[in-house]
Amino acid sequence: MSKLTSTVVTVPLAQVETPLLAVALAQGGGGAGVPASLAELDRATGGVVARAITSGDFTGKRDETALLYCGGGKAERVLLVGVGKPGEVTRSSVRRAAAVAGKRARALGAKQVAFALAPEARNGVSSRDLGQVVVEGAAQGAWAFTELKAAPEEPKPEVEAVAIVCDQREAKDVTAGRQLGDAVAAGHGLTRYLQMQPANVCTPSYLAERAKQLADAYGFTVTVLDRAGMQKEGMGALLAVAQGTQQEPRFIVLDYRGAGEAAPIALVGKGVTFDSGGISIKPAQNMEDMKFDMSGAAAVLGTFEVVGRLKPRLNVVGLIPATENLPSGTAVKPGDVVKSHFGKTIEIINTDAEGRLILCDALSYVRRFKPAAVLDIATLTGAVVVALGHVAIGAMGNDDALVNEVREAGERAGERCWPLPLWDDYRDLLKSDIADVKNSGGRGAGTIAGGWFLREFVNGYPWVHLDIAGTAYTDGEGPHQTKGPTAVGVRLFTEFILKRAGA
Ligand code: BES
Ligand code: MN
Ligand code: ZN
Repeated sequence: MSKLTSTVVTVPLAQVETPLLAVALAQGGGGAGVPASLAELDRATGGVVARAITSGDFTGKRDETALLYCGGGKAERVLLVGVGKPGEVTRSSVRRAAAVAGKRARALGAKQVAFALAPEARNGVSSRDLGQVVVEGAAQGAWAFTELKAAPEEPKPEVEAVAIVCDQREAKDVTAGRQLGDAVAAGHGLTRYLQMQPANVCTPSYLAERAKQLADAYGFTVTVLDRAGMQKEGMGALLAVAQGTQQEPRFIVLDYRGAGEAAPIALVGKGVTFDSGGISIKPAQNMEDMKFDMSGAAAVLGTFEVVGRLKPRLNVVGLIPATENLPSGTAVKPGDVVKSHFGKTIEIINTDAEGRLILCDALSYVRRFKPAAVLDIATLTGAVVVALGHVAIGAMGNDDALVNEVREAGERAGERCWPLPLWDDYRDLLKSDIADVKNSGGRGAGTIAGGWFLREFVNGYPWVHLDIAGTAYTDGEGPHQTKGPTAVGVRLFTEFILKRAGA
């Protein structure tokens, strides 16, 4: 796991001693030449920056890079990174540029990377935001999972440190941001690590152990229910999914108190450690990706890593229903009717719509905490990929103000959400002939049907459901991202919590 440390450096760019100096630049527009802020660096490095720009090789477009080997100066290499149009630069574009730099540093085997945002590209990004997002981005970009492979013959070292280069006057605020970034990067790293683990390692009891470790490290209260505990609670929907596998299911509750008796925020994460579909079995193609079906649970655990480090003045509870979904002689069958924790009966039409079954019992259990708000996060439907691709989280809820609050947190986090409607018209999709509700509708509006199913079990609190099936992991290798898990949700939850805590 990444052990990236961060520092703040306040010397002029030409004086930064580093194996890799990344400088984020915006598009200059028609032959603008070297930005004034880089003139000294350009002189010190023998004009390499000017040549990259005046040749037209580097224009500052988003994700564009130029790697320059310097003829003199303190930096061994300079990496120009584009952030797009200067008027459109946000904290998310700076984070992305830092990820590009982190990823390139990792590929080069640079143990340290220094990052500067040219003042011409600043566009009002605050000092604190700068410190935070540079660390977040660099850690994200430098990430690699090598644990289960033999070391290559010529191993590249990991990126160990990121230095944020800034003005002396803003060093204090950049440092405050850097500390937030360190915490977020640690949570992000934990989430990605858990996501990446294969399902024969990352079982429900493994997730419970990791939750206990977090509780030990940071002083959270942790409660773990096993199968018998779930039976006592009457979690018939979760148990129905869990009845087909030999792996013991777990219901995990983490409780962080940072604000006395105040009503907590509750985070509920889908923890299906492998989703074969059950009796309604999935096709073999890409089924291995269903180890990622615990990405919601991983995001909740990663958020608790952040919370443990930052200790915000707010109460946060995390709930994780965790099980495998496998076919067997004891597995739940299409047509079976079960009784949920809430009391409603459910006709299980499709055993592959298991996420909503385990979540509905958690959304019912959570009422005992009298939560101020409940956010659930789940790789719930393939249909959200059809609707929004791999770009945005699908967001639904019973409270427009809360949906907007979550969307704003997502915007700050660079984890965008887009709302889908839970109009009454869609409720009929889940009408059953035999039970109170069925777990799967027809072909259309699959993501909304998933959201509506959950809503049937939401009572007495504002709630938002986040469908991350399109955003939890990626096949696409890009300049700023590595194929595999994304830890989506950790940054969004962190932004949401920090804002609510007034931090
Ligand atoms: N875990 C899947 C959703 C999923 C699909 C996640 C693709 C990541 C990538 C979920 O349990 C599922 O199987 N959903 C079904 C629901 C349907 C049976 C109503 C789906 O999307 O097909
Ligand atoms: Mn499924
Ligand atoms: Zn699933």
